[in-house]
Amino acid sequence: MSKVLIADKADPLCEKTLKDRGIEAVVKTGMKPEELKEFARDFDGIIVRSASKITREIMDNAKNLKAVARAGAGVDNIDIPAATEKKVLVMNTPFGNTVSTGEHAIAMMFALARHIPQAHASTHAGKWEKSKFEGVEITGKTLGVIGCGNIGGVVADRALGLKMQVLVFTPSMTTERARELGVKMVTLDELYAKADFITYHVTINPATKGMLNKDAIAKMKKGVRIINCARGGIMVEADVKAAVESGHIAGLAVDVYAEEPATKHIFFGMEKVICTPHIAASTKDAQVTVARQAAEQIADYLLCGKRTHAVNGDKI
Ligand code: MLT
Repeated sequence: MSKVLIADKADPLCEKTLKDRGIEAVVKTGMKPEELKEFARDFDGIIVRSASKITREIMDNAKNLKAVARAGAGVDNIDIPAATEKKVLVMNTPFGNTVSTGEHAIAMMFALARHIPQAHASTHAGKWEKSKFEGVEITGKTLGVIGCGNIGGVVADRALGLKMQVLVFTPSMTTERARELGVKMVTLDELYAKADFITYHVTINPATKGMLNKDAIAKMKKGVRIINCARGGIMVEADVKAAVESGHIAGLAVDVYAEEPATKHIFFGMEKVICTPHIAASTKDAQVTVARQAAEQIADYLLCGKRTHAVNGDKI
């Protein structure tokens, strides 16, 4: 019988799906790296969200390991080159949380435009600061979407429905897809120059690491509002903080941080910065979907060799 470890908090459907497929499922979450390394030793598969890091050391120790499934889109908590060397198939569930993540970015945009978290805190504190929280409309404003894949596509679609102009920068996008979505493809510099709001939906890779830095900000409109529900590593956080302090960035909404969990951060306490704890994909709807998909995918691979959304499948 194949054995799969569910190493991060996942919807109970994950365990149930594995058991229904005849797989022994063990749920053990919150382990420190050393404990996870020891515990994972005998498993054929591991399912993670973002808390557990599946490192080379863990894979060295897990001699039976054949597959790792991420109940989510990003796979940056899994050492892909090491997995490939060890013939461990890595899979993700790229579509399961697309809508939730896109909706969170839109919610962040409204929160920025109307200072909703700040006004909420102030009103609860018994202040009545009606004139302090003057906002801006989003209708007719320009939204720049950097990375218009599955999630960026949802954001662009919703923003068009909100009567925004949508400019996108995605090197791999076809003109046909842009036409289908109703967005305009532009260069990064044009997007920086024209956008009132900028939202990032890129994966973290050598090209995107630190792309939101002082040089990029210098090309943006003064008073730009920025949303990052992608990965913290795309920002040079100190440059972003300085630009918020100078007023070049009028508002910043972040769900992701270079180091997570972030219990201390240079953004915390800044009035113009709205922070959430990496919850863009945390809806019941998305978590049910990604939990079931990750379980089905790992079961398919362990039981019949079927590969779905394998990120290193061509090398194994
Ligand atoms: C993802 O990679 O799918 C998202 O960042 C969601 C998450 O990690 O919870």
